[in-house]
Amino acid sequence: MKITSAEFVISNTDVNKCPKTGLPEYAFIGRSNVGKSSLINMLTGNKKLAMTSSTPGKTLLINHFLINKQWYLVDLPGYGYANRSKKGVADIQRVIGSYLEKRMEMTCLFVLIDSRLEPQKIDVDFMSWLGENQVPFAIVFTKADKQSKSRTESNIKVYLEKLKEQWEELPPHFVTSSLSGAGKDDMLAYIDSVNSSLKKN
Ligand code: GTP
Ligand code: MG
Repeated sequence: MKITSAEFVISNTDVNKCPKTGLPEYAFIGRSNVGKSSLINMLTGNKKLAMTSSTPGKTLLINHFLINKQWYLVDLPGYGYANRSKKGVADIQRVIGSYLEKRMEMTCLFVLIDSRLEPQKIDVDFMSWLGENQVPFAIVFTKADKQSKSRTESNIKVYLEKLKEQWEELPPHFVTSSLSGAGKDDMLAYIDSVNSSLKKN
């Protein structure tokens, strides 16, 4: 699939104010600074679409981007940013929680994991919560350009082994780099196949 148009539509903290077109959407979540906004820019080929920053905590809102006039990519705020105030953490959790619990159009949540790190409790716990709440998700390992290919592969193997302790079946996973464009074709093909299966139903 080729992305021919990508337009910013709306930002807000209230799930009730998200677009009411009924089109399917694919949301990006993960710890602050993991590369959610950069990945959206890489997939759409537009470096200026989603705002990125080397300072964690850049994205604070639910951001909808309309793709090919047919489906949305959604940039969500990052979780687990230590320097936020208690109220700040609670606010972000409320935004994310209400979006995931209420947004019927949310078709697949991409959970981003830094490919350089060993499994972090916050991410593993978050994925358990997704399972308990029947939120469909896939894992995206980010920043693969920052280390050797073999290092990325061995880290991912460790990660999936850890998840197997909890999960009978593993979700799909992708290996990406917003710098090199790695993983772009795989992710877009996956979204395309899910969109096609929705049309058949
Ligand atoms: P918040 O909005 O704060 O939650 O962060 P985010 O997850 O949206 O991260 P963002 O895309 O803003 O990227 C954070 C930093 O990591 C930026 O400095 C990016 O340039 C860098 N970055 C993101 N993805 C990659 C990647 O694949 N490779 C490299 N080398 N750097 C990356
Ligand atoms: Mg962001």
